Formats: sequence, structure tokens, C-alpha cells
Amino acid sequence: MLYIGIDLGTSSVKLLLMKGNGEIVKIVTKEYPLYFPKPGWSEQNPEDWFLQTMEGLRELIKESDPSQIAGISFGGQMHGLVALDEKDEVIRPAILWNDGRTAKETAFLNEVIGKDTLSMYTANIAFAGFTAPKILWMREHEPEKFAKIRKIMLPKDYVAYRLSGSFSTDVSDASGTLLFDVKNRCWSKEMLEICGVEEQTLPELYESYEVTGNLRPEIADALGVSRQVKVIAGAGDNAAAAIGTGTIGDGMCNISLGTSGTIFISSDSFKADENNALHSFAHADGTYHLMGCMLSAASCNKWWSEEILNTKDYAAEQAGITKLGKNQVFYLPYLMGERSPHNNPDARAVFIGMSMDTTREDMTQAVLEGVIFGLRDSLEVARSLGMRIDRTRICGGGAKSPLWKKMAANILNLSVDELAAEEGPALGGAMLAAVGCGEYEDVKTAAKAIVRTAGTVEPEAGLAAAYEVKYQQFRKIYPAIKSLF
Ligand code: XUL
Repeated sequence: MLYIGIDLGTSSVKLLLMKGNGEIVKIVTKEYPLYFPKPGWSEQNPEDWFLQTMEGLRELIKESDPSQIAGISFGGQMHGLVALDEKDEVIRPAILWNDGRTAKETAFLNEVIGKDTLSMYTANIAFAGFTAPKILWMREHEPEKFAKIRKIMLPKDYVAYRLSGSFSTDVSDASGTLLFDVKNRCWSKEMLEICGVEEQTLPELYESYEVTGNLRPEIADALGVSRQVKVIAGAGDNAAAAIGTGTIGDGMCNISLGTSGTIFISSDSFKADENNALHSFAHADGTYHLMGCMLSAASCNKWWSEEILNTKDYAAEQAGITKLGKNQVFYLPYLMGERSPHNNPDARAVFIGMSMDTTREDMTQAVLEGVIFGLRDSLEVARSLGMRIDRTRICGGGAKSPLWKKMAANILNLSVDELAAEEGPALGGAMLAAVGCGEYEDVKTAAKAIVRTAGTVEPEAGLAAAYEVKYQQFRKIYPAIKSLF
């Protein structure tokens, strides 16, 4: 049978067709616009997600036998607020995970409700990108629109709703709403009350590998597939990426270098970091994970290359970089503010340390290094909790750069395992579909059968030591200039 994984990302939707044995048949990507209507705001039109997903699905399956398609599932950009009215119309553009407009609402939740209380209800504190502060923002700034809300959804759940008619979400994505009791895997009644939301406004909860319904007949007919195709809940993109990279079991680590940069540590049992600097979320295999999330990772490189240097030839731009461990220039990667660990939507990107002999290559190098230094900040939090992490897997667009992987191995001092298929969330989505359709007994069995590593980038003692000195300098910069933001 054939399974489809849909990775609803921030710049595009990526659709992957997989055979039951894990072989990837085809991948299709369709882009859509991202809007920044005000500094620090970030929005998308849910209709664009749906139209491009449908377009992508048609292209994905056009050479395949439609009767073989058994299931569809998802990895989706997390935390976004999609609000529908009584006619199921979208009330306003979706407010995305990297939107920083909710500084006031986030402060209210953390300081007035209190971090300890939030942590008790949800295992997390408030971050500007989470869904609950966005709901409070809408209540305050758009009360008429807020009053019309009948359904609240996360981005991938909107697409799933259009495809299947099932108003549902999964526990990993629900974890990022701050309305969800992660430990007990249910909505938090207390948080619903604080945010003025009734439970029937929220989707029904499923584990990521559970079937939520079938395709709507008109969608199945439009695609020319069986009306029996199953739709499986899916996961937030980081949990889906972790499935796609085989990051399952205690203490396994995955790094994603996508628009955001994340460090994801799977855990068989529930854990929460005492200061909540790392998110404590449900995993897509039925367990849990801890995660640090940087708001701008590969997007820093995209901005620097495309907007400033006017080039899309990333490989050529990186070819001249030779001073690993010796760069005098530092870059703070906070183009959209920062989530982990600083929790400051007002932070901004900074270059520091240039002189008259600084070159274009030094600046590009600083951008790439700055992103990995930022990930190291989250890794340090995990290490401070006593977690021993020696190796990681890696995925996302940035993982295609050998230079960036070398920086990751040496700045983080980790063995970096490369995957035979770096398709992260899209592959994870297809794997969840296969589990939901009974092709595999559980997610762990599917990962064992499907995920293959293809080599390891090892840290080199001398370079890792040089980067250690640089990281100790990097980590002093943000506290020193924080008051300027
Ligand atoms: C995770 C997060 C991002 C988005 C990107 O907490 O906000 O990784 O999921 O799509």
C-alpha cells in the first residue's frame, strides 16, 4: 500500500509518497506566501495551505495506482492560531509560531497567572509564539472577531479538517497551545477558563498515529482515490521530524535546521525542566520530549544570502569559508525575537566584532555559527538537567550543508548522525499514516524498519576546543546588550 505524509511548513507544503516498506516514491513541494504585516508579526492564509496541499496531492499521486493509497497524515508548523466562525469560515489570517505580537499577553500569563501555576497546569510557561497568548491578544484587540470564534485549530488540523471533516488534533501539536495538560494528555480546564475558551471550541484529541476519519467523499472524488483513504492525526512538525529521523526512546536527540532551529530530546517518561526553559511536550509515539526552539535558523541564512547578498547559491557562498573556530565576527540570530532560551520577542539580530579586514565570508560564517551557538544555548539547558547527550540526528534544509553539519558537530561537541533520507516531518507523517493503517504495530517498529543513518560527522578535538572558547564569548553578548532591545 502507499502512504502520504504532508509537512505543512512555513514557506511551503512538502508532500511525500511512501511505500509500506518505507521506500520514498515521490516528493512534491508547493510554496505559499508568508506575510509580515507589522514588525514582529507573522501571518498566513489558511486557504493558501489548503489549495497548495490539494495541488500538491494531485501532482504527487498522478503516476501512481490510486487504489493503493491507504492513508494520509501530517507534520505541521506548530502553535499557529486558526479561528473559524459558525459557517466554518476563517475569521482572520492565521497568526504563526514566529509571531511576536503577544509580549503583553505572555507577560500577563507568566507574571499575573504565574509561571509555577502555568507549569502545574500545562508543564510549560508562556512564550510569545504559543497559541494561548494569541487567543488573549485576539480577545483584547479584536473582540468582535473573538466573539465569532466557534472552532480553534492548529495549522495542520485546518488542512486535515478540510480533507476529512474531522475536527481533531494530536497530543504533540496540542502541547504547544499552552491549553493542554501535557502530563495527562488532555485539555487543561483551568487554562481554558483563563483564556475564555469553551472546550467544544477545541478539537478532539488523538494520539499522533490514531485514525481520525476518512477523506470527505468530494475530496476523494476530486483526487480520484478511494473514499476509504484514512486520515491519521499526525504531529507537530518537530515530533513528526523526530519520527522521520528515528528519534524515539530515552535520551535520543534530533536537530532540525529549518525556518526554525530545534533541539528535540525524546524521553520515555514525562519530564519538565524546573525553569521551563525547554518545552515539555508529548511525543508522537505515545511518550514525551523536551525541546528548545530558535525562531530563526535556516531563515537567517536565507535572509543573509537572498536579501542582503542577493544570491541563492548557498554552496558557492559557503565554499570560501576556511576560518573555522577562528572567526572574529559574531552574529546573534534573533531576526524574529527569540524563544529558547531567552523568551524575548523584542530581541533582534546583531553582528558584532567586525574590523577593516572582515570579509564577506567571515560574515556568512558568523551567520551559520550564530545559529549553532543559539542551539548550544538550549543544549546547555538540557545538560544542566543532568542529561548526557553525546550524539544527535539532523534534518531540515540546513542539514544539506556539509559545512553547517561540521559546525554543529564541533560547536555542540556531538557526533552528528546523517540520515539516508533527510525528509524529517514529511517522512514522519507518512510513517504515522502507515502505523494508523496497521502496516506496522507501533511507531517504534515502523522507525526501526524504515529509518537508516548514512554516516556520522564527528567533532574534532582541536576544533571543538577552539569553538568552546568562541561559545563562551558568544554567550556573554546577549546579556550585555539585552537592554537595547
Ligand atoms: C516549535 C516551533 C517551530 C515550528 C516551525 O515549537 O515553533 O519549530 O513548529 O514550523
